[in-house]
Amino acid sequence: MALKKMKEYKTLQKHFSRFFQNPLKFLFVSTTCILTYFFPRILLTGPVYIGWNITFNCMCKCDFCKSSDFYKKDKELNTAECIRIIRQIAKSGVCLLSITGGEPLLRNDLFKIIAEAKKYGISINLITNGYLLEEKAEMIIKSGIDTVTVSIDSLFEKEHDLLRKCPGLFKKAKKGIEKLQNIKTNKPNIIVTSVVNKKNYKYLNKFVKYWSDKKVTVTLQPIQENSSKSIFKVKNKDLLFLDSDKTDFNYSYQKLLKKYPFFRIGYEKEFVNFFFDKKRFRRKYKCFAGFFMAQIDAFGNVYPCPEFIECFGTLKKESFKNIWKSQKAYNFRNKLKKFGCEYFCWYKCTGTINYYLTNLLKLI
Ligand SMILES: C[S@@+](CC[C@H](N)C(=O)[O-])C[C@H]1O[C@@H](n2cnc3c(N)ncnc32)[C@H](O)[C@@H]1O
Ligand code: SF4
Ligand code: SF4
Repeated sequence: MALKKMKEYKTLQKHFSRFFQNPLKFLFVSTTCILTYFFPRILLTGPVYIGWNITFNCMCKCDFCKSSDFYKKDKELNTAECIRIIRQIAKSGVCLLSITGGEPLLRNDLFKIIAEAKKYGISINLITNGYLLEEKAEMIIKSGIDTVTVSIDSLFEKEHDLLRKCPGLFKKAKKGIEKLQNIKTNKPNIIVTSVVNKKNYKYLNKFVKYWSDKKVTVTLQPIQENSSKSIFKVKNKDLLFLDSDKTDFNYSYQKLLKKYPFFRIGYEKEFVNFFFDKKRFRRKYKCFAGFFMAQIDAFGNVYPCPEFIECFGTLKKESFKNIWKSQKAYNFRNKLKKFGCEYFCWYKCTGTINYYLTNLLKLI
């Protein structure tokens, strides 16, 4: 038993050390965020993690996302504004920046912005649909990006392209991954992430094996739609689970958990409850958005989380520090801590933070 726990701990450590290049800084900033959770007036640093929708522009129209509907070219942050933001968040202590979108590789100045973040030692996770991965592979490697997370939702080429409304996407993403792997460097780490839905769950075991055989780590996130303010919108309702799917899903998913210990020790473990027992699930976990994490959109607005439920302020007008310390942010934190949230998101970022911290705080 102890040996099994040790092994699990090592797997976890290996996974997270890929994201956090500076463990001491991570420990310090996490501790100050925990302090803020208990004493909301004490704000010694900014959040540990920031997600940044650096553009809403996208070449796909996925069945579960409406990012392009948000795209307004003239309103998006320009290069100088992005660089100023990087300097501000670096000063606030952020350890990990996930650059997402829209499709971030569509921004021509992306590598300039990333270069600025790397100057300050921020770990970068780039989330991409992979369409431009092959074309940009050399620049990705040169930029020092720590992790590239490629979204692939099906074992089958046709099904993936159809889900994302983008012919040729699967092939392009796969070629991009191969190109990154063929250039022999120890970075970036490559992760394939998949939106678990009613159409792909039966093949998850084969899917994970397919990518594991190619030495790629797989992570999962459950399909969901919470606030109407966010880009996450499930347009094809056939992808959503019904209560009657519980037995079948549970059967398949337990097989996956059994085979891959990595999923047993992380937030993925809770997918069955997330899909089929929301009420109990919401009581079990706290949300730490606005304490440990923040989200910035393509226009410079700052939110506690990717659901964009409440805007704390805009970086076009104010500094990150002022926004993070604002009365609006303080009120949000108080409300969230006291009353919880009407939604309960379980994305990779929110789910991971909420899973580990809720469990950690139970021990304190
Ligand atoms: C919004 S995308 C932006 C980055 C990039 N365009 C991509 O697709 O990887 C970020 C992540 O959210 C996932 N996603 C999109 N809609 C979702 C939904 N309704 N539920 C869960 N995950 C979703 C995507 O698959 C992707 O992994
Ligand atoms: S999930 Fe990514 S690829 Fe799909 S529409 Fe949204 S931003 Fe574009
Ligand atoms: S549950 Fe947390 S992450 Fe989800 S919308 Fe509410 S505050 Fe944001």
